Amino acid sequence: MVQMKPMSSSSYSHLVDDIPSTPGKFKMMDKSPYSHHRLFKWHSSLTKLTFWSFLFLGLIFFFFLRSPPPPPHHSGADPSSSSSYPRRHLRNYSWGGPTWEKRVRSSARVRSRNGISVLVTGAAGFVGTHVSAALKRRGDGVLGLDNFNDYYDPSLKRARQALLERAGVFIVEGDINDDALLRKLFEVVAFTHVMHLAAQAGVRYAMENPSSYVHSNIAGLVSILEVCKSANPQPAIVWASSSSVYGLNTKVPFSEKDRTDQPASLYAATKKAGEEIAHTYNHIYGLSLTGLRFFTVYGPWGRPDMAYFFFTRDILRGKPISIFEAANHGTVARDFTYIDDIVRGCLSALDTAEKSTGSGGKKKGPAQLRVFNLGNTSPVPVTELVNILERLLKVKAKRHIMKLPRNGDVQFTHANISLAQRELGYKPTTDLQMGLKKFVRWYQRFYAGGKKSSV
Ligand SMILES: NC(=O)c1ccc[n+]([C@@H]2O[C@H](COP(=O)([O-])OP(=O)(O)OC[C@H]3O[C@@H](n4cnc5c(N)ncnc54)[C@H](O)[C@@H]3O)[C@@H](O)[C@H]2O)c1
Ligand SMILES: *[C@@H]1O[C@H](CO)[C@@H](O)[C@H](O)[C@H]1NC(C)=O
Ligand SMILES: *[C@@H]1O[C@H](CO)[C@@H](O)[C@H](O)[C@H]1NC(C)=O
Repeated sequence: MVQMKPMSSSSYSHLVDDIPSTPGKFKMMDKSPYSHHRLFKWHSSLTKLTFWSFLFLGLIFFFFLRSPPPPPHHSGADPSSSSSYPRRHLRNYSWGGPTWEKRVRSSARVRSRNGISVLVTGAAGFVGTHVSAALKRRGDGVLGLDNFNDYYDPSLKRARQALLERAGVFIVEGDINDDALLRKLFEVVAFTHVMHLAAQAGVRYAMENPSSYVHSNIAGLVSILEVCKSANPQPAIVWASSSSVYGLNTKVPFSEKDRTDQPASLYAATKKAGEEIAHTYNHIYGLSLTGLRFFTVYGPWGRPDMAYFFFTRDILRGKPISIFEAANHGTVARDFTYIDDIVRGCLSALDTAEKSTGSGGKKKGPAQLRVFNLGNTSPVPVTELVNILERLLKVKAKRHIMKLPRNGDVQFTHANISLAQRELGYKPTTDLQMGLKKFVRWYQRFYAGGKKSSV
């Protein structure tokens, strides 16, 4: 049995301290016409008037420095490019300043011939970490962006951040709804691609916190597309949709041509909305857009809110696990897709993406618009998932069979991947048995105090 030792947050404190806090105001000080030696190099022959004017200037100088740093607005910014998300809804992150910009530039620097420079949103997330590491390994420039929200244990996100840090990837801490931050990033780096993975994931959590789905998956997507359409040159965008857009469909396998108008959860509805929004930005502004419908991604560094992950945790703790079944003992099954296969699909989508065609916020010609299923093509019943975990963990699960609640989960998913196969050369190679073996190995090392696992 594995001893559960939750990681202490203090082990990451050096990384937290590492986050640049150089505020923009220091830049203003450089530009200030007043400097200390001029202020204080005065002598007795000065008249009273000069004394008071210096005091006055000194006071202005004092308040100037104390006032909060101004939002980094830039003269060239298109006023229509602001999605005007009320700033009071955003957490206060500190960003900006010469040290911060240097880190941004260095992380995004392309190191291989024909390399691309990619802004990866949701980089501290499960898929984002793996995609960022893979891009960096082959010499592309990578800059991460993540708000490190606490939808699930943020210490796992910090551990992924530490992993990327060692690989040379910097994750900017901020929200995708922060237009000023996004504009700044595009001012510092001419990204050729955006890999947009930041989102509020999870199906059942939508009943608890619906607005977080609207905030990240709809408003956040629009905010990303707004900055992309105004950027010169416009980047090509690859983003994560979801297999959940197939909703209540019963025809299997799910194909990209099938209807996607009966979502079973707010999460699914926001991803479907994203696909329509992508269509609009492609149509109006000539943005090259590729949506990837992931099918239940799993693997090392995965998400603790997903069944394979918390089943593993609960089986090891001897806690009963709830296994859903459909009406009339119907099987609930998922097309589980191993993370490395998903990463290959993502990289291939980036590599085959054509350039956006617009400039100056205006469309100049038609641009690429694509949607692909990225699945594994072999759905596995959740009971079989538990059988495999029992064998790998050498612990018998306490199974608690429950009716599938009608609050978001669909009975099964099954991808038709022939389109991705043809256009992206996508071919999944890891089956659930092998993939879970790798996950369990990571899980046991990570939570047994090792913490040194690598991707
Ligand atoms: N993992 C799956 O099985 C699966 C399946 C279908 C689709 N997807 C989609 O793939 C993408 C990646 O999923 P994941 O499993 O890595 O999820 P994840 O939750 O691990 O990663 C998402 C990351 O985005 C960040 N984020 C969320 N809202 C943000 C905001 N407003 N601003 C900045 N950062 C924000 C989070 O902090 C998190 O680190 C998501 O879009 C998800 O909807 C995942
Ligand atoms: C951010 O800072 C502003 C001004 O200092 C403050 O009014 C606001 O409440 C802060 N927001 C959060 C979420 O802390
Ligand atoms: C999968 O989709 C393709 C079109 O992309 C279609 O030609 C094929 O018949 C589908 N396969 C199945 C088994 O439905």
